[in-house]
Amino acid sequence: MAETMLAIATTPDEPLSLQAIARPEPGPEEVVIDMRAAGLNRADLLQRKGMYPPPPGAPETMGLECAGVIAEVGKGVTRWKVGDRVCALLGGGGYAEAVVVDEGSLLPLPDGMDFVQGACLAEAMMTVYANVFQRCGLAEGETFLCQGGTSGIGVMAIQMAKLAGAGLILSTAGSAEKCALIAQLGADVAVNYREEDFAEVAKARGGVDVVLDMVGGDYVAKHLEIIKVNGRICNIAYQNGPVVELNLMRLMLKRGILTGTTLRARTAAEKRDIRDAVERQFWEHVEAGRIRTIVDSTFPLAEAEAAHARMSAGGHIGKIVLTRDA
Ligand SMILES: NC(=O)c1ccc[n+]([C@@H]2O[C@H](COP(=O)([O-])OP(=O)(O)OC[C@H]3O[C@@H](n4cnc5c(N)ncnc54)[C@H](OP(=O)(O)O)[C@@H]3O)[C@@H](O)[C@H]2O)c1
Repeated sequence: MAETMLAIATTPDEPLSLQAIARPEPGPEEVVIDMRAAGLNRADLLQRKGMYPPPPGAPETMGLECAGVIAEVGKGVTRWKVGDRVCALLGGGGYAEAVVVDEGSLLPLPDGMDFVQGACLAEAMMTVYANVFQRCGLAEGETFLCQGGTSGIGVMAIQMAKLAGAGLILSTAGSAEKCALIAQLGADVAVNYREEDFAEVAKARGGVDVVLDMVGGDYVAKHLEIIKVNGRICNIAYQNGPVVELNLMRLMLKRGILTGTTLRARTAAEKRDIRDAVERQFWEHVEAGRIRTIVDSTFPLAEAEAAHARMSAGGHIGKIVLTRDA
């Protein structure tokens, strides 16, 4: 009989609970990670409702990133060995005792970094790299606006932009406490979006070159108003809705670029390229502690339902992480 393990089943209408499923086996270029900590992502809430299915070939269970110890390696794996401490971007399956992933989606966990911190890195850093740097080409000295500054993504975007030499960094958050954190992380201007219009603040600062947008809705037209000539806007989510009305003349006159990407559905080769770029350009900062992880809270894997409730309520600051004892 196939070996089994415990994983959180994806149930829209019942509380999340552990169930026994088949333990994964590695393909030639894959590894199996013994999961010690798994980061929650807002996309998990969508997947649970059936709105964000895993791409073909990915595990059916939720979980887009984890940290742990390599338990098995496929025949063709060259870089990693059993026992290595790693963190990983996953197509799914992080809410489980073990998960299988392509070797190109792994990064080495720095010495001294615990698994909870490690579970906050891969998805956020690779998303930020793919959008802010690869797609929007944020360059030294340019002005950057990061919406959702205390989201799992936002805390990394601010720090990576700062380390890459961005000029002015503006970021938004929904409370004074959250604004204080984004200022500590490197934002020069922290806007409480419940009290101030970020677009007015950005205009008063001369406009922005690059926007990382996870809000969509009415923000999209505002972004077109505040970008400078040759400005770039990247949309990665739409808390305020995906359907918008725009005056495209603003885009044309600004010679702007309005784009968007997703990470999950990309090929293993594309993810490997993004992993390589993150490792080359930013990993020394993680190792040296110049990139901080912001952990909101941890929940044992079996309490995934409570972790989802915390994310749904929206009061969290940084990452919510599921943990598993060794
Ligand atoms: N396309 C991709 O490849 C990709 C990859 C990863 C993540 N994402 C998306 O990126 C988003 C962030 O992910 P996460 O897991 O880090 O989620 P998260 O921690 O729940 O973050 C959601 C963020 O949205 C902010 N927000 C909500 N309404 C806002 C408004 N009107 N103005 C400004 N900010 C607002 C929240 O700010 P407050 O808490 O301050 O209210 C919060 O910081 C999610 O929507 C996720 O689906 C996309």
